[in-house]
Amino acid sequence: MAATGSEQQGGKAYYVSTPIYYVNDAPHLGHAYTTVAGDVLTRWHRQRGEKVWFLTGSDEHGQKVMRTAESKGLSPQEWCDKLVEEAWKPLWEHLDIANDDFIRTTEKRHTVRVQEFVQDLYDKGEIYKGGYEGPYCVGCEEYKLSGELLDGEGEYAGEKLCPIHKRPVEILKEENYFFRLSEYGPRLLELYESRPDFVQPESARNEVVSFVRQGLQDLSISRSTFAWGVKVPWDDKHVIYVWIDALLNYATAVGYGADQERFDATFPADVHLVGKDILRFHAIIWPAMLMAQVLPVPGRVFANGWLMVGGEKMSKSNLTGIKPQDLTSHFGVDAYRWYFLRAIAYGQDGSFSWEDFSARYTSELANDFGNLASRVTAMVGKYFGGVLPEATADGPAETAVHEGLTKAVAEADRRIGEELDFSGGIAAIFDFIRQVNGYLTEQEPWKVAKDKSDAGQARLATILYTAAESLRAVAVLLNPVMPASSQKLWDSLGAEASLGALADQPVAGAAEWGRLPAGATVTKGAALFPRLEEQPAQ
Ligand code: MSP
Repeated sequence: MAATGSEQQGGKAYYVSTPIYYVNDAPHLGHAYTTVAGDVLTRWHRQRGEKVWFLTGSDEHGQKVMRTAESKGLSPQEWCDKLVEEAWKPLWEHLDIANDDFIRTTEKRHTVRVQEFVQDLYDKGEIYKGGYEGPYCVGCEEYKLSGELLDGEGEYAGEKLCPIHKRPVEILKEENYFFRLSEYGPRLLELYESRPDFVQPESARNEVVSFVRQGLQDLSISRSTFAWGVKVPWDDKHVIYVWIDALLNYATAVGYGADQERFDATFPADVHLVGKDILRFHAIIWPAMLMAQVLPVPGRVFANGWLMVGGEKMSKSNLTGIKPQDLTSHFGVDAYRWYFLRAIAYGQDGSFSWEDFSARYTSELANDFGNLASRVTAMVGKYFGGVLPEATADGPAETAVHEGLTKAVAEADRRIGEELDFSGGIAAIFDFIRQVNGYLTEQEPWKVAKDKSDAGQARLATILYTAAESLRAVAVLLNPVMPASSQKLWDSLGAEASLGALADQPVAGAAEWGRLPAGATVTKGAALFPRLEEQPAQ
């Protein structure tokens, strides 16, 4: 259960990261998926009263970004500045992402420390000079193994293709610096063995374990055929491989080499959220780099699945990248944040469609949740002049609601806060919403209202108090997922006056029955989830 704020304040922050995204193009749904998940997870932990650090950022070096900039006639730095400021940061703001920091790999606070880290490894003999020739995918920024390539067809007949990007790989031959990754196999296997939840979900763990068991090769950590990167400190003809540079953001952003106290209070990450396409970098290379420096490894690496379109990973390179704004302009930001986490089991691949989104919006958000809020607040207005009455006639039906809430809170806290099962956690909250709807249908307060006896009025007050107090708890539980709508609900329940700010409400407190005091000013605000207009012609 939730740790109390006082236990946590002096201790280490609950540190969650997203991948830092390549700024070769504007963000699409896939990028937003991981970032929203991180935002929900960290908002949840903040509401447990924990000290939290949520990091995201941009990955700006390497050939992929460099080539895009060239094609736009800009320098890589100009291109990155433009895209970060005009596309990425505004999207996170639009989606209500409450990140504590945004790191850019071209920032000095990062580049200087990356050089120090790599120099240190070199001085320790962990890095040596060698040669390498092999197939390279610029989309992945990764050397590929011949065995994993696909045979091209059609326009790519006779060529070898990257299995992720379905584009031809390039044969690169370079003299590079290598990190002795191969030596870390046994220690990595020991790590996966002793901490079975280090890589999640299970399918991701299995993939990583079997990959490492096959034996690791040393890793080329520099490039000498282009210059857009952090210079290798002892040999400025080379730049540091973009993935080594990028992974280090998780350390440099929290004070590595610059602010020891801050670093100790934050590092390592409790959870690295990654897409399954970049699992190996995070679950193999990153811990090996940390082991080489005798630094602590992260708590866990959680790989989410892919959002699929037409059976393929949605991406810019196969022209299926959909902008989040295309959906938020129709469904709203909160529904967007909710939909992908609700509809797809986190960790699995998932297809989505406009129709499915519309159907779920209507049935779960507008009908189940939105209607409950408007019915209850309207009835408190109609029967009690907007002043929340006291519950004096609790019976078995109310006890069942209290118990339903206790169960929903415990389940949502475990699933969202611990297991990253967002879909299951949200379902638990919505099961409770449905329970309260059922309770109202059975208790029929609109009929009880006609009974003007003291007993009748006491029952009416009790029913409406029970429903409003349930909504108070729902607002607290849904705040991490849908902050704007939850705030509207909080306001219409008049909860702030007695309970304070919504974001300060502890998760555990959601289950404490009776927090919303009788006498609260309840108002029926605008619909939380208005009926959707027809889909605009595409
Ligand atoms: N820059 C690297 C990450 C470095 S982290 C030290 C990178 N960037 S990326 O822009 O390609 O973004 C990758 C991440 O975006 C994926 O790992 C995943 O989190 C998210 N997604 C991109 N497309 C996606 C889908 N179609 N579906 C789900 N998530 C996807 O790799």
